[in-house]
Amino acid sequence: MPRVLVTGGAGYIGSHCVRALVKAEYDVSILDDLSNGHEEFVPKGVKLFKVDICNPVDVDAVFSEKQFDAVMHFAGRLEAELSMEKPEEFFYVNCVGGFNLLEAMRRHGVKKIIFSSSAAVYGEPKEIPIKENAELKPINNYGTTKLIFEQMLEMYRKSYGFSYVALRYFNAAGADPEGGIGEAHNPETHLIPNILKAAKESSEFHLFGTDYPTKDGTCVRDYIHVCDLADAHLLALKYLGDGGSFGKETGASGAVAEIFNLGNGAGYSNREVIDAVKRVTNKNFSVIEKPRREGDPPVLIADSSKAARILDWKQKFSKIEQMVETAWRFETSK
Ligand code: UFG
Repeated sequence: MPRVLVTGGAGYIGSHCVRALVKAEYDVSILDDLSNGHEEFVPKGVKLFKVDICNPVDVDAVFSEKQFDAVMHFAGRLEAELSMEKPEEFFYVNCVGGFNLLEAMRRHGVKKIIFSSSAAVYGEPKEIPIKENAELKPINNYGTTKLIFEQMLEMYRKSYGFSYVALRYFNAAGADPEGGIGEAHNPETHLIPNILKAAKESSEFHLFGTDYPTKDGTCVRDYIHVCDLADAHLLALKYLGDGGSFGKETGASGAVAEIFNLGNGAGYSNREVIDAVKRVTNKNFSVIEKPRREGDPPVLIADSSKAARILDWKQKFSKIEQMVETAWRFETSK
């Protein structure tokens, strides 16, 4: 079976992709320094290279130890707000670390990569739902680093014949219903795990911004189940493996480059998510209204029709209740 290296494979989305790859009988290895990943998320039989992506010598050594057919790249910093306080940390991990990876791939002749990009590359889009060809204007440094890496991929396609698929996720949510893996960032900045924590501990939940120009004044986001994201990665891998067949830009090298939005196409306001958590968990907790968090666009909803059309991507868990329920199971099993 094809040998796939998953960077950040012990993290939230990476671990769900690793599980899907193992189920599909790929030969999977993980590169993760466990700074935000969890060793217990690594399945038995999967080799973990405990390596910092910012160390070029160590990254290269991973590729010397094993020949890979493709890479899935998740390793990176993701806290949008923090990226405004410490841009150097985000540039270092997301761009310099990403460069180390691309260089190791180039040196070892690995030319297929699937990149974990983000809706953050769009910033505050003018049109909703957002299509892949919308203007790219990140409003935080996190989004800028994701865009820079997409551009690096394009440089490596043009010059070295790399094939890539960049997947721009909207708001990943939920956990594998089989259990054992889920969202556990430190610090946790995301909406659903923070509401669930308040439900679990009967503590306060802080709701940022209630005066947005939306139906109930709170931000609207497009939540997508992490297992559906994992499915999209496997389809993208197959797409690269098959050489791609639609709308591809081949250029002289025959390389394939494609970008897909991954979302649900439905928006839920923060208040609607709070209500869903209350319904699913049957718990009550206080919601404290706070000022807006800096850098939050009012509405982000994906047009994912391209992924449906080209990758034949279908969602299995599109209801917010399914996302909250699986996330709650993980939260209460910790
Ligand atoms: N929110 C709260 N309280 C919290 C946490 C979040 O009210 O404790 C609000 C936020 O202010 C925002 C909404 O919930 O209005 C969603 O916030 P998240 O942090 O869960 O998600 P974001 O939409 O900010 O970020 C997500 C990804 C990022 C990515 C971004 C793309 O998690 O990695 O989408 O725009 F950059």
